[in-house]
Amino acid sequence: MVTDRYAVVGNPIAHSKSPFIHQQFAQQLQQNLSYETLLIEQSVNETAEQVFKRVLTSLFKQNFKGFNITVPYKQVAFEFAQIKTPRAQLAGAVNTLYLNEQQQIVGDNTDGCGLVRDLTERYQRRITGRSVLILGAGGAVRGVLEPLLALSPSRCVIVNRSLLKAQELAQQFDVLAQQYLPTKQLEAIEYSQLNGQLFDLVINGTSASLQGSLPPLPEQLFTPNGWAYDMMYSAYPTPFMQWALLHEAARALDGLGMLVEQAAEAFYLWRGMRPNTDVVLEAVRALLRNNAPVLENIEFPPEIGGYQGRPEPTRFGDWEHKGRCIDY
Ligand code: ATR
Repeated sequence: MVTDRYAVVGNPIAHSKSPFIHQQFAQQLQQNLSYETLLIEQSVNETAEQVFKRVLTSLFKQNFKGFNITVPYKQVAFEFAQIKTPRAQLAGAVNTLYLNEQQQIVGDNTDGCGLVRDLTERYQRRITGRSVLILGAGGAVRGVLEPLLALSPSRCVIVNRSLLKAQELAQQFDVLAQQYLPTKQLEAIEYSQLNGQLFDLVINGTSASLQGSLPPLPEQLFTPNGWAYDMMYSAYPTPFMQWALLHEAARALDGLGMLVEQAAEAFYLWRGMRPNTDVVLEAVRALLRNNAPVLENIEFPPEIGGYQGRPEPTRFGDWEHKGRCIDY
């Protein structure tokens, strides 16, 4: 029997957790498939975009059945797809490719669905009727706006360093805002305008965590049961999660659950089966933690870092402090 092949495409790609996640799904559902990483980079004669299109076209003609796409090729994949699903069109980016029955290349985007599933199903966090603040106005945010708006939060605000980018995004999603928001408007503001405003859910969609930095946030940002969600993840709490817990967030989550959920949705598109994601999230969390550097030189504030400013790794799975907890 021929093994169906899948791959995640990006640059860099060696760090990707997607092969591990999809292999877990396949094992769980007894699917005979392989899932690899595929590094695409420019060559002497071709741009990276040209290499991407040439290589994927050729692999689809072999026994590759689908691809996940990550940084920096989500827009290239969007152009490459012959058919784009409505959610890919809204996101302006594609993270999942596959062939339909007519052998056309379909581009979809499962990122937003992944975020919403993680929050509303795994953590049972209600978004409908609650106020939502989104930090950032780049591709990551664009990808999650539609499913967030579709849940009808009481208001939805985008804050960005470049106000113009936030305003453009708000403009692009205006029809959906009018349809779903009681305020009829997706608000776009600068960080200085956050003073005095509190939110039930604050989602960090900036790439600031990647540089270990934080957007300029005010001292008070969360309602009494306000949650923080970082679309980034790492073996240890991200700078935004640390900041949120020090600023009275009731809970701070990272984006590892979103990663697993977007993968599960892609798996469903490819195989028509939904894996149990809780066990896979646990496994990928353990993998991250086991491969993490020892925390000797990392300073955590005592409020979130546990013992003497250093977390005790054995307690990271379920650590609570003053009624605030961090999911690790
Ligand atoms: P991605 O595809 O990951 O969203 P992107 O499109 O480059 O990447 O967008 C990055 C986002 O993070 C932008 O909203 C950016 O803000 P600007 O548009 O004002 O540049 C935001 N960002 C990056 N670093 C940041 C920082 N240190 N503080 C605040 N926002 C930051």
